[in-house]
Amino acid sequence: MPDISTQSPLIAASDHPLDPLTPDEIRRTAAAVRATHDLGRGMMFETITLREPDKAVIEAFQPGTIAPREAFVCAFDRTNGQVFEATVDLRADRVIDWRHIPGVRPRILIDDITLVGEVARADPRFRAALARRGITNIDNVQVDPWSAGNYGLPDEEGRRLSHTFCWYRSEKNDNGYAHPIEGLCAVIDLDRAEVLRVDDYGAVDVPMADRNYAARYRTVFRDDVKPLEILQADGPSFSVEGNEVRWQKWRFRVGFNAREGLVLHTIAYEDDGRPRPVLHRAALSEMVVPYGHPGGGHFRKNAFDVGEYGIGVLANSLTLGCDCLGTIRYFDAWLADSKGDPYKIESAICLHEEDFGILWKHTDLFTGEVDVRRARRLVISSISTVGNYEYGLFWYFHQDGSIHFEVKATGILNTASIKAGEAPTYGTIVSPGVYAHYHQHVFNMRLDMAIDGERNRVVEVDTVALPEGPDNPYGNAFTVRETVLESELGAQRNVDFDAARFWKIVSADAHNGLGQPTAYKLLPLSPVPTFSGPRSMVAKRAAFMTRQLWVTAYHRDEMYAAGRYPNQSSGGDGLPAWTAADRPLVDTDIVVWHSFGLHHIPRPEDFPVQPVTAAGFALHPVGFFSENPALDVPPARSSMSCCLDRSDSAP
Ligand code: NI
Repeated sequence: MPDISTQSPLIAASDHPLDPLTPDEIRRTAAAVRATHDLGRGMMFETITLREPDKAVIEAFQPGTIAPREAFVCAFDRTNGQVFEATVDLRADRVIDWRHIPGVRPRILIDDITLVGEVARADPRFRAALARRGITNIDNVQVDPWSAGNYGLPDEEGRRLSHTFCWYRSEKNDNGYAHPIEGLCAVIDLDRAEVLRVDDYGAVDVPMADRNYAARYRTVFRDDVKPLEILQADGPSFSVEGNEVRWQKWRFRVGFNAREGLVLHTIAYEDDGRPRPVLHRAALSEMVVPYGHPGGGHFRKNAFDVGEYGIGVLANSLTLGCDCLGTIRYFDAWLADSKGDPYKIESAICLHEEDFGILWKHTDLFTGEVDVRRARRLVISSISTVGNYEYGLFWYFHQDGSIHFEVKATGILNTASIKAGEAPTYGTIVSPGVYAHYHQHVFNMRLDMAIDGERNRVVEVDTVALPEGPDNPYGNAFTVRETVLESELGAQRNVDFDAARFWKIVSADAHNGLGQPTAYKLLPLSPVPTFSGPRSMVAKRAAFMTRQLWVTAYHRDEMYAAGRYPNQSSGGDGLPAWTAADRPLVDTDIVVWHSFGLHHIPRPEDFPVQPVTAAGFALHPVGFFSENPALDVPPARSSMSCCLDRSDSAP
């Protein structure tokens, strides 16, 4: 019985100011809002979540004491589209701030996702468009609720919308993405629950080859996969108290919310018994998936899956032995539905350890003596399903003080139909008559850095080859050039392959034993260039994707790279708006925003279900320590022998 799982005592603990709201706090928040600001029968809650306290509150907090506790609320009135924000003081069960937010749209809610299909299928214009394609079996039509974006179309003004694409399912479990119903898009008014418009760009024969991947459809499996069991007889090396995790000198707090999903707080590394801060907060602030096809309604495909849908809302309940292997600690998540009632996503977050190959090794050339240490890493992860795609958010903590983040993208390609004999300009054929458009997935991670405290600066490090000359007679010389990023406008930077560029986040106050300022470097592992034109709506609305690095002066309410309300936004919100002030960034409390992603030119191998492909970045200590911090990792128990014995494997 190798798989042992323990369930966390709910992620909603409320013993620490950063604990997510408990079910009771969610209920009390909704009740407090309704008591004084009831919007009537059209009232919907977009968000009820912890309003995270000021850093000073977190720093001053002592276990057993009572800290201020506030909830953030976004509510709207479906009957007139008015959006309101509230702050609720949970110590007094009282609304302490209520304001109308003009000109914005809440995100697409779970309620909307089912509504869109029902409304479309019931509409005579939509049915007529299907009939023109020979489809009368309406119940077999799958309608995907995409965000609508903002294209300045007069009839769409002032409405909360979804723009749809359609697929055909031969039966309930059939992979509809093998049967795109091309050229048919409905624009749905979500608040009026009606079809605003049917856009028919012209029919293409629906490809009907079955391309099912699910085990239920497969009779033949490879027969040489033997069990690979993870045994941790003495239990894992991590401990969890409330929502605080400790492992191999690392400590951090786990958070979760509807919008960003998994959030990590107060990440610190224990050095000489003293926790040294590295990050105050880390979470996925936004993402966008721009598609490159200009026609047939496809120009509207660019979902902001964090801000327009909520990657936390869409988190899976994870399953032992499938999603996670070994000795697992799960955390449940509590969210609020549109009525303000709490609901639970069971096992939304997985915490476990993995073997990670070798940590370090050396064989003495002259004596033959070998010293090797095995590495392990701590993994904390969640997986969200956003329509056809899955995104896994995976944080890795290492014994050498480094942190690694990966998005694992899997699921099903978004597809379209193509006429027989035509060669696609904007995609790859993945099945007869079916092609998948070129696209990108661009993520933005908000990293509220705290290298040995809040006073930090960012330094750009380029490597330069020196010209041949008297100081470089053999032409081999290269060195590094460091540039301090002084203020926000000048800190919008891209990678430079020719300079092997990276960025260091440097403490203003702390030094290591060698007298060097302590620092971490941000290693951009998955930069993606932007191909959306500068005048395109998606480039305006997702300006964050055009730069791999942004740095801002910390402000409590500056949380999301494309702004608080990206759904149907006209652009300019978030990073471009905040950085216009060009605030100074040197030796102050700063936030680093890193954009990275997947440039996806689909392959036939990505269909009918895509093998995981990953994108991410690393944070490595640079002079944060004075030497390799993992010298004290002991040799593996069985390995005094493997220090000398070359036969690591059984004969
Ligand atoms: Ni993709």
